[in-house]
Amino acid sequence: MIILGIETSCDDTGVALVEIKQSSQDSTPTILANVVAGQNDFHQQYGGVVPEIAARKHVEMLFPSLTKAFEDAGMEMGEVDAVAVTSHPGLVGSLLVGVECAKTIALLYQKPLLAVDHLKAHFYSIAMEGVSYPYIALLVSGGHTILAICKSPIQIEVVGATLDDAGGECFDKVAKYYGLGYPGGPMVERLACEGNENSYLFPHIMARHENPFAFSFSGLKTAVIHHAKRYHQNKQLKQELYLPDLAASFQKAVVDHLLENTLKAVKKFGINRVGVCGGVSANGYLRKRFSNVPAFQAYFPRFELCTDNAAMIAGLAYHYYQNGEAVGDITGLNPAPQSFKKSKVL
Ligand code: KG4
Ligand code: ZN
Repeated sequence: MIILGIETSCDDTGVALVEIKQSSQDSTPTILANVVAGQNDFHQQYGGVVPEIAARKHVEMLFPSLTKAFEDAGMEMGEVDAVAVTSHPGLVGSLLVGVECAKTIALLYQKPLLAVDHLKAHFYSIAMEGVSYPYIALLVSGGHTILAICKSPIQIEVVGATLDDAGGECFDKVAKYYGLGYPGGPMVERLACEGNENSYLFPHIMARHENPFAFSFSGLKTAVIHHAKRYHQNKQLKQELYLPDLAASFQKAVVDHLLENTLKAVKKFGINRVGVCGGVSANGYLRKRFSNVPAFQAYFPRFELCTDNAAMIAGLAYHYYQNGEAVGDITGLNPAPQSFKKSKVL
């Protein structure tokens, strides 16, 4: 079975074609094409994603991306068996572009349409590396930080989420303050390579909260920014502010927090397979720290599946299809922009 996937929930235009061999036990998809057209250059000057620009760029980039994907796979559009699209959550203007495009293709070629949850797809990107269920999954992206137990591709139990900023958002905001550019994560990581992670001791995050798996990043963000403000007000000290040290110490504080809650979940739920997904899982320091923990085996999606992409959408859609979850009324499908609600089963 070949599934066309379309992803336009934020600022990456993704089109992918994946094949799943229905005859074999193994439903891990083979990626035939995975095209991602990023928009960083257009949002860079604002230090974050501008929704209006993102939606307009999807309109421009979706058709060339479709053409490229079918060229890469050496296929015609009519040859796909189903069409999958991210329908929630995300920026509504961005989602609309992908959803309307997918509806049109499904109607034109009379194919089943699958409306996919973007967050479940991030969790599924870990399974695409062959990890067996159940596993504990940590999603850390620009919009979300969620700790969950994945029991199957579509059965996901959320145990904790961020109470304020997302992990990636924290990287982006700190980077914006220091004028490092957008997206902030890769810039901070590069700088941190030359710094000493023990130079600055930032406050321990979330020492106490009723949910031991909840995250918080806004306090850390404020501490890092205030730290620099103090230096800026004092010329002599300013000379002593060495950004690589600050970046390394900040990055360490983020990963300490992520790792601490994950370890608590490993102990509580007795599952020793842990996958980290979403844009921040591309971070090399995070990968090293998680890989060195004896209490669990760490899994990470390959780099092109960490950030937003349509291969994870198409791959997960196969399981929706198997579960009889194709969209009944194709013309009636509307994107649902709502963000994830805390503490629920996805
Ligand atoms: O999953 P993603 O592409 O989009 C969302 O769904 O949000 O994640 C983007 C986020 C951004 O906040 C970006 O700064 C962060 O992932 N990111 C990183 C790295 N690469 C991307 N954060 C830390 N280190 C990285 N190497
Ligand atoms: Zn995402």
